[in-house]
Amino acid sequence: MGVLGIIGGSGFSALPDTELVQRQWLDTPYGAPSADLLTLRHAGREFLFLPRHGEGHSIPPHAINYRANIHALSDAGATDVVALGAVGGIADDCGPLRLCIPDQLIDYTWGRLGTYYDGADGEVVHVDITAPFTSALRARLLAAGAGIGLSLRDGGTYGVTQGPRLETAAEIRRMERDGCDLVGMTAMPEASLARERGLHYALLAFVVNWAAGKGDGGEVGMDEIRANLAGCGDAVRSLLLALLAEA
Ligand code: HPA
Repeated sequence: MGVLGIIGGSGFSALPDTELVQRQWLDTPYGAPSADLLTLRHAGREFLFLPRHGEGHSIPPHAINYRANIHALSDAGATDVVALGAVGGIADDCGPLRLCIPDQLIDYTWGRLGTYYDGADGEVVHVDITAPFTSALRARLLAAGAGIGLSLRDGGTYGVTQGPRLETAAEIRRMERDGCDLVGMTAMPEASLARERGLHYALLAFVVNWAAGKGDGGEVGMDEIRANLAGCGDAVRSLLLALLAEA
């Protein structure tokens, strides 16, 4: 594998059991990334780490500078990006604490700066994202999970909503009819920007609540989300460390 970049999501603004090699502030032509880019080392292997919401988790999903983040990772040499994402579960087998490696997404976001090909330089480019997640990188995550006995859902459709509010029950029913298994707020435009930059990109989604109207149908509580974020922590970290320890 080339150089791995990890984009930390909610609950993962740092990665313990790793050694800090370098911290760098990378300004980009698209503005400031969410935080300093860290070079970390684990099992003799260096990789890059960028917390999507900032080090203090202060940047909401709709306000993230996705273009700057992907540009910074690419500029620093990343070839493969594994993004972490807390999600709500829609499919029956996607209850809280489930870990999933989605293979499709539907973009419900609006107004985000989502391309490097904005026409400013007179170039019109349409990237192909038939398969928005890189299958080889997905396979490596699945194999790393299997290697440590972790149960991972192979595949599923991640619906990306604008946030920061959660969804109504009717919105989730519509998303379910559309074929969504999971709902989150950050995989787009991250995935398509990564594709525009030629980076391999895969998502490790961890379910922190039943989506609105699912489960027992009650309100989605922040306490529940916080508890499940903490509950997913060990499994997510173990999987990342197993991926890094691979040859
Ligand atoms: N909806 C959207 N994004 C989310 C959710 C949700 O229920 N849970 C965690 N991220």
